[in-house]
Amino acid sequence: MSKGLQAVDKKDDEIIVATKWMPMMRRARSIKKTIDDRKNYLNPYTIDLHQIHMPYSFSSFQKQFDAMSDLLDEGHIRSIGISNFSAKQMIKAHDILADRGHVLASNQVNYSLIKRKIESNGILDTAKELGITIISWSPLQSGILTGRFHENREQTESLLMGRKMMSRGSIKKSQKLIDSMSLIADSHKVTIAQVALNWLINFHGETVVAIPGSTKPKQAEQNGQVMNFKLTKTELNDLEELSRDFL
Ligand SMILES: NC(=O)c1ccc[n+]([C@@H]2O[C@H](COP(=O)([O-])OP(=O)(O)OC[C@H]3O[C@@H](n4cnc5c(N)ncnc54)[C@H](OP(=O)(O)O)[C@@H]3O)[C@@H](O)[C@H]2O)c1
Repeated sequence: MSKGLQAVDKKDDEIIVATKWMPMMRRARSIKKTIDDRKNYLNPYTIDLHQIHMPYSFSSFQKQFDAMSDLLDEGHIRSIGISNFSAKQMIKAHDILADRGHVLASNQVNYSLIKRKIESNGILDTAKELGITIISWSPLQSGILTGRFHENREQTESLLMGRKMMSRGSIKKSQKLIDSMSLIADSHKVTIAQVALNWLINFHGETVVAIPGSTKPKQAEQNGQVMNFKLTKTELNDLEELSRDFL
């Protein structure tokens, strides 16, 4: 192990490491089979959260969550999560884990100011009811919620096909929202992206956390700073109202 890694190791308690098992075309036995490799790759960090990436495996939920429970009981991981599970599937996972004396820590789903489906399809309500954290993936909706494409629509031309397709309708539809976010951002001396993330992690109390993707150190720094300010109740509610088209 390098000296640098040892220095980082001292901060292990401050860094939360989450990883995922990909269930597609696999059986639950691979959860236990792959854990040693996973631990080696992540060494010297401990796996704080191990998630099942999606609800599609050749094995039953019972077998998958039994395997995850074994990993927890054997001390390989610190908590269990899921990703892209529906409300019904969350409840099933929660119940199986409860039978083993464990909690379901989180469900990682796409949630942002312009992707609010989880508020109407039962996922958010279930999370609140069962105490499951929602981890929002693509919380900036792949950069749309930074406002940079609204400012210069030609920038979408340089995007990869998937992201370009995704952005087309949403940019026009979210112009009013972005204009309002820009004013709020100015008043807090932050960026539009920071307003988008701040809304996500505060509007529903403690239920939602976000994992923005950063391609530059400056973005990572700004994304971390989102926890240093708080939108007012009026601002939170105004943004909720302005983004109702995306429910
Ligand atoms: N569970 C799942 O099924 C699933 C699916 C998709 C993604 N994810 C996870 O979600 C995380 C984030 O996803 P994502 O990268 O697609 O989405 P995102 O956070 O919505 O968007 C990231 C993009 O926004 C821009 N950006 C980020 N921070 C910024 C800042 N402070 N200021 C200005 N621009 C900023 C960057 O664009 P530029 O590069 O253009 O500057 C970056 O590529 C990743 O960890 C990913 O693995 C999970």
